[in-house]
Amino acid sequence: MGRIPDDIVDEVQAKVNIVDVVSAHIPLKKAGRNFKANCPFHNEKTPSFVVNPDKQIFHCFGCGAGGNAFGFLMKYSNLSFPEALRALADKAGIRLPDVKIDHTSVSRLSLLYRFNQVVAEYYYNNLLNAQLGRRALSYLTSRGIKRELIDKFKIGYAPPGWDGLLKFAKSKGYSEEAMERLGLILPGKEKGHYDRFRDRVIYPIFDLKSRVVGFGARVLDDGDSPKYLNSPETEIYVKGSNLYGLNFAIPGIRTRNDVIVVEGYMDSLSLFQHGVENVVASLGTALTVDQIRLMKKFAKSAVMVFDGDMAGEGAMLRGLDLFIEESFEVKIVELPKGMDPDDYIKKNSRDAFMGMVDNAKGLFDYKVSMLEKRFDGKSAEGNYRIAQEMLPSIAKISSAILKAEYLKRLAERLNMKESDIREEMKRARPDSSYAHKQGIPLSAKPVNLDPAEKMLLGLMLEDSKRLDTVIAELNLDDFMDPRIKMFIEYMYRRHSKGSPVEPAKMMNELDGEDAGSIISEIACGCGTSGEGDRALKDCIGRIKERKRKFEIDKLKMQIKRAQDENNEEKAMMLLSKCNQLLKSNR
Ligand code: GTP
Ligand code: MN
Repeated sequence: MGRIPDDIVDEVQAKVNIVDVVSAHIPLKKAGRNFKANCPFHNEKTPSFVVNPDKQIFHCFGCGAGGNAFGFLMKYSNLSFPEALRALADKAGIRLPDVKIDHTSVSRLSLLYRFNQVVAEYYYNNLLNAQLGRRALSYLTSRGIKRELIDKFKIGYAPPGWDGLLKFAKSKGYSEEAMERLGLILPGKEKGHYDRFRDRVIYPIFDLKSRVVGFGARVLDDGDSPKYLNSPETEIYVKGSNLYGLNFAIPGIRTRNDVIVVEGYMDSLSLFQHGVENVVASLGTALTVDQIRLMKKFAKSAVMVFDGDMAGEGAMLRGLDLFIEESFEVKIVELPKGMDPDDYIKKNSRDAFMGMVDNAKGLFDYKVSMLEKRFDGKSAEGNYRIAQEMLPSIAKISSAILKAEYLKRLAERLNMKESDIREEMKRARPDSSYAHKQGIPLSAKPVNLDPAEKMLLGLMLEDSKRLDTVIAELNLDDFMDPRIKMFIEYMYRRHSKGSPVEPAKMMNELDGEDAGSIISEIACGCGTSGEGDRALKDCIGRIKERKRKFEIDKLKMQIKRAQDENNEEKAMMLLSKCNQLLKSNR
């Protein structure tokens, strides 16, 4: 049982106003016919989040989030569709038929994500509780973390008792099984389960979609050990497959094009607090291929900032080769001895820190100079050892030009003949010890749409009378993008029944997580100022022309194949078809 009838969904939709729904959570400012705000789904200083009351949709031009009132509530409060519907129906005073919300249809994983979110809020509320959270809050304050950052990163506090979370979660109806699956409680030897994290500051770990996947927990007193406890690996938390703080760093990365990688929770928080917002933390582990690929999606290059005492370790130096294998530019900053990024930026300044970042050494230079410290760069023996370490890295470089350049530089640096180095290189095999781990599929695929198709869709959404023209001129096969095809098909269908096409309703009926975001972008984005009908003609023309070129290419291939098969007759037939198409270009 479970699907709520469409007419009820429509009824609720008609009664609620997206402006009220959104402004119940974030402050909106009027801007012409629309409303604007700083986007609640990513970090920004100038508002690119738009609510359009005419169309009853929202869209963020910064991060691409978009949808209708249900979509907003689902995303903002982490609800399933039936839950969002119920919440809005209650508000509108509409009684829903008593369909039991079918939790098995909500995937098991999304329940785990939601539970983690609830738990993060529990910890966060503890921290802000005047009595319970006092010590933890003053600890964070003493480390320079301000309220704004606590709110953003949802930093929290796990109380000292054995079953604070356990009791809270049970009162919310969550099972011990779910808590155990998330690694939040542990089975006791004699009595029942107990909380894993006690009397610790809690740093929720978010994924790219800002879902809470796990937690890091730090002691308040530096003497206690272990300093950090972390969530174990779970169904939704695979260590080494995400980067702490990346969800918050994306806008900062986009402005600078590079990402700063530090080791610790506190390092990334502290940099953020000082206004360095393109920072992520690797959380103490060596970087993995997955993490590098994750950065590559948003950044052009990375700057690793190492504490001033661990650099030069062999494992770390070899780990850097992963960047070469992934063809991702990396630079390295080594801080003064005994300092981590948090210490450094506090002792000096943001500008001093950024100065270090902007003058970071390239991988090649960094690695050679580290090796020169380890091996005596003046002796022949030392130089040989350095070459031995460098050559496997250079062998991994995929560009032949870069490879030649580095060989030349290495020869110069080590005072060796380039021919000797090349000879040695032949023996150095790129080792396979960093065999690529299978990449985990990642979300947030960029929405790349054909501009003509996108514009056409926008024009039709603007004025559904234009559908008649489009239907007369184009058929479904003329569209290339499967998502656009799905939207157009839906619109054709509604139109043929004489029903109006409304973007906000369309989102309810079309599946796929991109639907809300694409439709809202297109619907909010267009505004053709009276030139719409000419633009429509133009788009139709472009789509037809593309289709024609595509058909010609296809025919050319078929002709070639027919000729290869010595099928003259077929080739002639195809050729005349092709000529016709070629001529049809006016
Ligand atoms: P502060 O001591 O608060 O400044 O933390 P930090 O973030 O600077 O931590 P540190 O540089 O000591 O360690 C870097 C990272 O390694 C931490 O953020 C943790 O992710 C991890 N780490 C450090 N100590 C431990 C530990 O005792 N256990 C575990 N599991 N991880 C640790
Ligand atoms: Mn530290």
